[in-house]
Amino acid sequence: MRMPLVGGSLAESGRQARELVKRSKTFGRLRRPEEPGSERAVFDGVYSLEGRDGAQYTNPHVPVHTAQRTWELMQLVNLYRGLEPTRVLEVGTEIGGTLWHWLQNATPPALVVSVDDMASLNPEQRERLPGIWQEWCPEGVQLQTITADSKDPGTIARVASLLPEVDFLFIDGDHTYDGVKADWMNYGPMVRPGGLVAFHDLITPDFGRHVKVPELWREIREAGYPVVELFADPRENWGGIGVVQVGG
Ligand SMILES: C[S@@+](CC[C@H](N)C(=O)[O-])C[C@H]1O[C@@H](n2cnc3c(N)ncnc32)[C@H](O)[C@@H]1O
Repeated sequence: MRMPLVGGSLAESGRQARELVKRSKTFGRLRRPEEPGSERAVFDGVYSLEGRDGAQYTNPHVPVHTAQRTWELMQLVNLYRGLEPTRVLEVGTEIGGTLWHWLQNATPPALVVSVDDMASLNPEQRERLPGIWQEWCPEGVQLQTITADSKDPGTIARVASLLPEVDFLFIDGDHTYDGVKADWMNYGPMVRPGGLVAFHDLITPDFGRHVKVPELWREIREAGYPVVELFADPRENWGGIGVVQVGG
């Protein structure tokens, strides 16, 4: 039986995951941005590495900008590719900035499921974006979008029916403590042993004091899960991606 991810058995879940990671090379796959073969060219210009607010789209290879730091996303995509993921879940898509990368880098035949309440989008974006996202799908990669609150029991059931097992889960939706914990508790157990769960916003920004991902992240780390922290610059006041390998 899969252990609960947070709660009384947290330490045991963390121990199992540590055992598993010893036998896995996943976290050994991180590549430096300048390493030949890395996707620097594709990512340059999505966000400047130095800037705090460089959300300007300037790269002709990437049709959308993202709320991520370039270096952090590059590293995460390298980990993602290493999994050869065929079953992918994103909670928090907004305009599709990270979704694009999951679609391009999935291993066909693959299914990518996006859950977003679309609360941050205007009516025109709500109407048009799902169709645009479908056009991004490479051959053999399917996309299912669920426009709903991720905490809603109906949403959880829908995801479970589409993806009984998940290789990669990206959590970037509700950034309150209760919200991010609910996503971890509800969707984390769907991730297969050896799969990855990534959280955005390990740093609480000055402009977003509601972001409490660091609190949950501390609990996960203290439970002893194998983790990787991706910080383009830990002195900065936003960003940071935490990646957990789950043991099952
Ligand atoms: C930070 S944005 C996602 C950014 C995207 N991952 C990227 O990097 O380009 C967060 C998104 O999650 C959505 N969201 C927030 N709480 C949610 C919830 N409980 N259920 C579903 N979506 C939610 C917001 O409306 C918003 O579209």
